[in-house]
Amino acid sequence: MRTTRRELLKFGALAAAAAALPSFASAATPTGVGRATKPLKILILGGTGFTGPFQVNYALARGHTVTLFNRGQKPSPEWPGAVEQLHGDRNTGDLKALQGRKWDVCIDNPTSLPFWVRDAGKVLKGNVGQYLFISTISVYADGSKPGITEDAALAQYKGNDAMAETQETMRADLEGLYGALKALSEAEARKQFGERVTIVRPGYIVGPRDETDRFTYWPHRIAQGGEMLVPGDGKDPVQIIDGRDLGEWMIRLAEASTLGTFNAVGPEKPLTMDAMLRGCQAVTGGNATYTHVTPEFLEEHKVEELPIWVPSKSNPYAGYGQVSNARAIAAGLTYRPLATTVTELMVWFRSLPAERQATLKAGITREREAELLKAWHARKDA
Ligand SMILES: NC(=O)c1ccc[n+]([C@@H]2O[C@H](COP(=O)([O-])OP(=O)(O)OC[C@H]3O[C@@H](n4cnc5c(N)ncnc54)[C@H](OP(=O)(O)O)[C@@H]3O)[C@@H](O)[C@H]2O)c1
Repeated sequence: MRTTRRELLKFGALAAAAAALPSFASAATPTGVGRATKPLKILILGGTGFTGPFQVNYALARGHTVTLFNRGQKPSPEWPGAVEQLHGDRNTGDLKALQGRKWDVCIDNPTSLPFWVRDAGKVLKGNVGQYLFISTISVYADGSKPGITEDAALAQYKGNDAMAETQETMRADLEGLYGALKALSEAEARKQFGERVTIVRPGYIVGPRDETDRFTYWPHRIAQGGEMLVPGDGKDPVQIIDGRDLGEWMIRLAEASTLGTFNAVGPEKPLTMDAMLRGCQAVTGGNATYTHVTPEFLEEHKVEELPIWVPSKSNPYAGYGQVSNARAIAAGLTYRPLATTVTELMVWFRSLPAERQATLKAGITREREAELLKAWHARKDA
C-alpha cells in the first residue's frame, strides 16, 4: 500500500506544502527557472540514476540541449522535453555511440574507475569544451580534521594497477578503494582533458530519489515516534546536500564555464545533529523523543552505522561533518531549506512500494534500537 498525499498531511504543518508537489517518479521540471543566455549542448554520462535526472530537468528548463549516454538498464524518468538517448557500456569500453560527436560540456556522473575516464577521454577529447566530473569528499587522505579544503592531500592508491580495477574489485574493497580510485579518476580527467576540467566533490547527497536511505532513516524514524536512539550528544556537526541543489549547480557551472575543484557539502551554515533531527521533526511532526548515547557505548555494542552522523572527535572521519564549502558557495552553490528537502523526500519515499518502505537500507531496525536503549538505561552509571 502506498501513502497518499492526503495521508501525508497528518505530518506537521510544513507537510501541507507537499500536496502541491510534483511526482518525483518523473523528477519534474523545476519551477521559476529562467532561460540561460546561451543554450548549450550538454552530454550527460549516466543521467537516469539519482542526481542525473535533476541535471536533465534543470538543463531543459534553462533551454539547453541534452544527450544522455548509459546502458539503458535504469528506467528513464519521463522528461519534460526532448532528450537524446545514446547507449553503450563503460564496463566493456563500448563508447561507439559517442564517436564523431561534439558537445559544449560533458558531465560524468557515475564514474569511480580510472579506465572509465581514460576511455571517455579517447572518444571525447577535443570534442567537448568542458569535462565536469562528480567525485566525492572520500578522496581526502585525512578525514579526521575539521575544515578540509580542496587543496588537502588525497588518498593514495595502494594496489598494483589502477587501470585494471573494475566495479567488482572496487565493491569488494569499497572502504579501501573508493576514495583512492576517485582521486585517480580525477587525475585521469586532468590527463585527458587538460585544464578544461571541473571536479565536484559531494558529501552525503540526500533528498528525493536517494536510494541509500542514509538521511531518509532519520525523518522516517522520527515519524514513527517514541523514544529514539540518537548517537552522540546532539552537538556533532553534520553535512548533507540535496541532490537537486547539486544537480542544478552543476548545470550552472557548465553555463559559466567554471573550472577547478569544489567540495559540494551543505548546508551553508553549520548544522548540528540535533538541529537536523528537529528540522526533520518540524516536517514529520509526532512525539519522538531523543535519547543520546555516547560513541563509546555504540562502539562497545558494535553499532557500525548510524548514518550521516560522525563523531566530531577522535575518529578517522571526524572531519566529514565539517568540510569547507566556501569555494563552492563563492562559485554559486545554493541550498534549499532543510524543511523543503525533508518534505519532498518524504513525499517521494512514501510513494515507493510498501515493501521498499519497510526495509530501509541504512540505520538500525526498531528491534535493535529497542535492545540498545534497554542496554543504555541498564548501564551501571545510568
Ligand atoms: N550518494 C552519495 O551520497 C554520493 C556522495 C558522494 C559522491 N557521490 C557520487 O555521485 C555520483 C552519483 O551518481 P548518480 O547515480 O547520481 O548519477 P546518475 O547519472 O543519475 O545515474 C548513474 C547513471 O550511470 C549509468 N551507468 C551505470 N553503469 C554504467 C555503465 N557501465 N555504462 C554506462 N552507463 C552506466 C546508469 O544507467 P544504466 O544503469 O542504465 O547504465 C545511470 O544513468 C557518483 O559518482 C557517486 O560516486 C555520491
